[in-house]
Amino acid sequence: MSESADPAAVSAALAALEAHRLDVGHRRVADLFAQDPGRAERFQARLDDLVFDYSKHGVTETTLAHLFALLRAARFEARRDALMRGEAVNLTERRAAMHMALRDFTGGPALVEGRDVTQDVRSERARMLAFAGQVRDGALRGATGERISDVVNIGIGGSDLGPAMAARALSPFRGDGPRMHFVSNVDGADMADTLAGLDLARTLFIVSSKTFTTQETMANAQAARARIVARLGETAVGEHFSAVSTRLDLVARFGVKPDRVFGFWVWVGGRYSIWSSIGLALAIAVGAKNYEDFLRGAGEVDAHFREAPVEANIPVLMALLGIWRRNVWGDATHAVIPYDQRLARFPAYLQQLDMESNGKSVTRAGAPVAMATAPVIWGEPGTNGQHAFFQMLHQGADVVPVDFLVAAQPVAADARHHDLLFANCLAQSEALMRGRTLEEARDLLRAQGLDEAEAARLAPHKVFAGDRPSSTLLYRRLDPRTLGRLIALYEHKVFVQSVVWDINPFDQWGVELGKELCGRLAPVTSDPQASLAGLEPATAALIAARRRLAAS
Ligand code: F6P
Repeated sequence: MSESADPAAVSAALAALEAHRLDVGHRRVADLFAQDPGRAERFQARLDDLVFDYSKHGVTETTLAHLFALLRAARFEARRDALMRGEAVNLTERRAAMHMALRDFTGGPALVEGRDVTQDVRSERARMLAFAGQVRDGALRGATGERISDVVNIGIGGSDLGPAMAARALSPFRGDGPRMHFVSNVDGADMADTLAGLDLARTLFIVSSKTFTTQETMANAQAARARIVARLGETAVGEHFSAVSTRLDLVARFGVKPDRVFGFWVWVGGRYSIWSSIGLALAIAVGAKNYEDFLRGAGEVDAHFREAPVEANIPVLMALLGIWRRNVWGDATHAVIPYDQRLARFPAYLQQLDMESNGKSVTRAGAPVAMATAPVIWGEPGTNGQHAFFQMLHQGADVVPVDFLVAAQPVAADARHHDLLFANCLAQSEALMRGRTLEEARDLLRAQGLDEAEAARLAPHKVFAGDRPSSTLLYRRLDPRTLGRLIALYEHKVFVQSVVWDINPFDQWGVELGKELCGRLAPVTSDPQASLAGLEPATAALIAARRRLAAS
């Protein structure tokens, strides 16, 4: 296998990090700031107007030097270059992972396994954007001649999370475009609740599925088709459906008109597909210009990732700080807290990106991974999270590293609210870092007029350990370009971590077993008379219990 990590060098780098942890671990971050007036500026990396601040992590220049040594031992540069050259880095599926080609506006060739895909990408994007434009400007009509007022994207995983997250994030850029809806769950409630109140004569469905075989998406697509046929007749299907897939043969069987079908390629992984025709729903939501700005933002991060030295490379730094926390300190989870309500779905998007990519236990060569891999990614927007789970972040027994995301300026929102939002974001990261000692807590209580005994009794409850690590990503405003940048930063972060762990981040075979078992169980759950013989006892008992409940 080309560009393999040097296991001995990786072990040595990890051992050095462990030893260094004993050295630096007892130092308070507040003291690191006190001893180093330049820390806030130096422990920051920039991509023009985007700032990545990691000064509140308990790291020093020595920590970083050890982390860069680990990166070298993992042969990071060779692996990054192989990825960017469009080589078949997805070793198990023997294909490239060249989503960068979809946002490459440099004019240079974009190679996928040696073939320049620039023209293919451009022409499919042009078709997709032209169609999106027709939906937006009303040129495209439903079967009864009415303008499309609502668009429902039917997809799941990467065929849902990307467009759904991004359409919400960029909702102020909608202009006169139609309202956007997203149905993903095979739970019929998702479709029923989405369609309640929609006029089907003014509704366009997009069936988004890379494989066009995904059970949930196919069930939802058939349900939507039946609704259209019932309301407008069989001939209306062609006017009310569009599709995005790599399997054009399967799409044709569904009855979508060929000029409403948009393709992409197997070298685009599902969780990286927002940059492909899967972005159709987003392009309809925000229009061609905004959609292209979104792609360009990601392309700028690709250039930064390829060219910036590791010391100033934001995705590399994000990845290494994650490794420091996951592999050296043992933190099992990582929170992403956008102080940006419109990024409400961003943590869910990152869950797929990070955990479907790096939630693995074997190396690229199939041996057990010697280290912990993907942490649990979770989060909710601030300030809401402050009134829910922040108690645990500040005083819980486990340390949870946090990424705070915040804009300098609001988009289509009250500026005074934004000042408050911004203050909250900084206050939380500062509180996590500073903490409060027992003595400080006691002094505070005394100052509030409590007697000595009461102050001593309550003080332990008011102690904050502090030194809880966080990074802050500060951007000018949440516009299409910035959103593209944020996603691409995390994509490359995930890739760098996969290099250190020596795993293939581009397959997802962990989702297969459950799918297989479901395929066997579905006939049993849909037939109340079906025999339960041969099923796992626990499964059979629950099906029997359901049958009793369903009958009562
Ligand atoms: O089950 C996981 C997965 O394969 C994801 O990787 C993918 O994004 C999702 O299912 C949807 O797949 P498709 O686009 O083929 O319907």
